[in-house]
Amino acid sequence: MSTPPLSTPRPQTTPAWPLPVSAPAARRVGFALMTEAELDAVCELEKRAYAHPWSLRHFRDSLAAGYPVVLLLGEALPGETVLPGHPGRVLLGYLVAMRGVGEVHLLNITVSPEHRRQGWARFLLDALVLWSRGQGAQQLWLEVREGNAPARALYLSYGFTEVGIRKGYYPNAGRERENAVVMSLRLPGAAEGTDA
Ligand SMILES: CC(C)(COP(=O)(O)OP(=O)(O)OC[C@H]1O[C@@H](n2cnc3c(N)ncnc32)[C@H](O)[C@@H]1OP(=O)(O)O)[C@@H](O)C(=O)NCCC(=O)NCCS
Repeated sequence: MSTPPLSTPRPQTTPAWPLPVSAPAARRVGFALMTEAELDAVCELEKRAYAHPWSLRHFRDSLAAGYPVVLLLGEALPGETVLPGHPGRVLLGYLVAMRGVGEVHLLNITVSPEHRRQGWARFLLDALVLWSRGQGAQQLWLEVREGNAPARALYLSYGFTEVGIRKGYYPNAGRERENAVVMSLRLPGAAEGTDA
């Protein structure tokens, strides 16, 4: 996970997010682009998912910069907490992406603790790949904490390769810092040898 750069907002047009056919059969799902209305619910999930969560400001900056903040909404099953403003829908997870020249940077991907190991992160990545190809990107990039074993396993199993280390990239408890592993994925259909 990376924090969104605090650059001058550069609004981008965000076409509708394609729905991959690979959804786990557990329930019907759809995507929605986050607005101010869902900020509190997303921040609440973010706090449950990370020891060092993004702040509300990080999500606001992402919106202001035009980065897609994409919510994965599922049909709520009995007993599940419904996302305010979305009757009958539960927030399964979300991702934040930043488009660059010929590449897309995944800034955040999160699945709610109650819905993990059901294939939703893989499904979000499928959607990201489809969207990125639609943007003309040849490569995906991300950073992940060295100690984040579940996320590293997810990315490796998805086909990402580890291409470098950023020393002391993340804050940790106390004054310690944690390394980031930089990972990349060449997108299907991208020409071999093309610079991203
Ligand atoms: C990492 C995260 C997004 C994975 O979400 P998920 O929906 O549970 O992942 P999936 O069910 O799609 O898993 C796909 C594959 O990833 C790997 N994986 C996922 N979680 C894993 C875990 N806890 N341990 C080992 N492998 C794991 C497995 O290979 C898995 O395939 P399998 O279930 O068939 O074995 C989720 O754990 C999460 O939100 N963590 C907190 C936020 C975070 O760290 N985000 C990443 C920031 S870089």
